[in-house]
Amino acid sequence: MNIAVLGYGTVGSGVVEVFFKNRENLQKKAGQDLDLKYILDVREFPDSPYADRFTKDFQQIVEDDSVKVVAEVIGGLEPAYTFTKTCLEHGKSVVTSNKELVAQKGAELLAIARENHVNYLFEASVGGGIPIIRPLHMCLAANRIDEIAGILNGTTNFILTKMIRENMSFQDALALAQKLGYAERDPSADVEGKDACRKICILASLSFGEHVFPKDVYTEGITEITLEDVAYAASCDCVIKLIGRAKRGQDGEKIMAMVSPAFIHHESQLGTVDDVFNGILVRGDATGDVVFYGKGAGKLPTASAVVGDIIECAKASDTSPSLRWNPSQGGNVADHLENSTRMYVRLQSDTVKLPQMLEKQFGQVQPLSRDGQPDNEFACILPERKEREIEEELSKLTNMGVEILGKVRVLDY
Ligand code: HSE
Repeated sequence: MNIAVLGYGTVGSGVVEVFFKNRENLQKKAGQDLDLKYILDVREFPDSPYADRFTKDFQQIVEDDSVKVVAEVIGGLEPAYTFTKTCLEHGKSVVTSNKELVAQKGAELLAIARENHVNYLFEASVGGGIPIIRPLHMCLAANRIDEIAGILNGTTNFILTKMIRENMSFQDALALAQKLGYAERDPSADVEGKDACRKICILASLSFGEHVFPKDVYTEGITEITLEDVAYAASCDCVIKLIGRAKRGQDGEKIMAMVSPAFIHHESQLGTVDDVFNGILVRGDATGDVVFYGKGAGKLPTASAVVGDIIECAKASDTSPSLRWNPSQGGNVADHLENSTRMYVRLQSDTVKLPQMLEKQFGQVQPLSRDGQPDNEFACILPERKEREIEEELSKLTNMGVEILGKVRVLDY
């Protein structure tokens, strides 16, 4: 059975490396001879030991009937979407790490795979090397999944860890994450939370059975988080993490899904997930909480998941019946302002007596302190309220000239 790899970037080169390093073992696991016949890339790699396998001609791969599995590791929507669709329509299974494409077109591509009796697998799209997609639809199949929450982006977790532990600046930590091959080609997708949003959409779609689109999910990144916020979090035994979460809507209600930074207890399951590691908590009605942990980004961890999917496709005789969800028109996620939460706020004013004013607005608040706190700065955790109410009350303060310096949800994961 022949394989083609589309894209020779960080993940693609990792897939080729893992394939040839472990080829013998992979063949045993697949129960057949395997070869990686083509590597598609627009660039030239004359010095590569695999130089003879490179092609720039996608059509050559499509028309080669010996190619049964294609790894799409180009990323982005186009040409990845057209290539994937064409391969599936030509009876080739496709495996991918492309979370943007799965989050946008997953339901459609899964349906095309089904029509053609092949597979569209995307274990590498969420959590890098962590097995999460297959456990969700296979090992946990007995459960109704009610909630998922996770640290789903390695780059931002790496940056936050450096800020928390080493007082490193945001920019220096981002540059290091890029150097280590964790970040997206455009790292704004990491730091603005879009990458985590795509991943929570994939997990929510699979768990709740209908397509959840990124455009419907309220998303905040970590660009506004400061070392002052990190210090206030530490004063109440918390760390700041970028959390993607989704909750099944009860009795016909819409799904709750959101990506945002959050204060979480430093000893909690997700609070101890540091550096490039991801942690994903799945709440099943039979299992209770199950937590998946491992390297969420990087060349070889991601390649591990892609190659695992290649083997799965080689073994499969038809489409996996459990990896599916229904298409939707979107609009199935509740307005985030309806969500109830505790909130950390950091405010500054020379005229308004902030503690008294906040107690008047919200009732009892939990004051926080930090070294070097200026006299005109006040930080606290507000009691649980709907986000709409919090916004309304904070805008009254803004109208009185109060400056809102920080605002982060406080979660119990
Ligand atoms: N940029 C992504 C991350 C890569 O940092 O998690 C893995 O999807």
